[in-house]
Amino acid sequence: MKIKVRGFEMAYDDTGGNGIPLLLIHGFPLDRTYWATQVKALVDVARVIAPDLRGFGESTMSGDAVSIDTYADDLRALLDGLGIKHAVVAGLSMGGYIAFAFYRKNPERVRGLILANTKAGADSSEGKKGRDDNAMLAREKGVAAVAEKMFPKMLTPKTATEQPDLAANINAMMTRQSVAGVVGALGAMRDRPDSTPTLAEISVPTLVITGSEDNLIPPKESELMRDGIRGARLVVIPGAAHLSNIERAVEFNQEVREFLKSMK
Ligand code: MLT
Repeated sequence: MKIKVRGFEMAYDDTGGNGIPLLLIHGFPLDRTYWATQVKALVDVARVIAPDLRGFGESTMSGDAVSIDTYADDLRALLDGLGIKHAVVAGLSMGGYIAFAFYRKNPERVRGLILANTKAGADSSEGKKGRDDNAMLAREKGVAAVAEKMFPKMLTPKTATEQPDLAANINAMMTRQSVAGVVGALGAMRDRPDSTPTLAEISVPTLVITGSEDNLIPPKESELMRDGIRGARLVVIPGAAHLSNIERAVEFNQEVREFLKSMK
């Protein structure tokens, strides 16, 4: 499905139904197909909405300068367009950075938060330089060069070897994103604010999920979020790296399902 919001066309999946609205925000450099397993598995407990962020997947790009707040405002416009007042907002990695921004701007729209394989802190100066290097790489050599660099951190080596089709699917997803979308997101992540002060402000049920083998954003970051958010629950899925919802979909979906049910 497609909807015109804030000057661009946003592609999204919406399962419809009367379940609790669940907004799934993808990470970098991915698109909404990343959540395919969740969309299918959770349809009986939630109205699952999975958009492509601007410049990713089938969503068009608008403007060059994108911030984390830009994405958050796009998503609010999507919920407005769909007539959804309250949603459980779930973000993985960059999606988590956006979920924090969404909460800061629209706390009254958030029924619960799911923060997967993400962190509250901002980029270090070394991290910011890495963003600029990757943006240059994307411009000069294409998105495939960035994907090649990042891919080894996405799945455990065991999964990458044992499930070549899954690995190929993720690699293809990372590679097919547009240069404009990727460069925009790199700038947005580089300049994102520190969300650590936000942790104490969160007053909705929160589930923090990560993978024991996530080396891109180590589990320690999830512990910090759990400790900072009142009543948050942390689940560390064994044998999952950065893309825990794909690598250990059954466990991930089970946790999300329980979390959604606890909110009814
Ligand atoms: C992501 O998976 O969304 C990004 O790799 C996160 C990051 O680079 O900070």
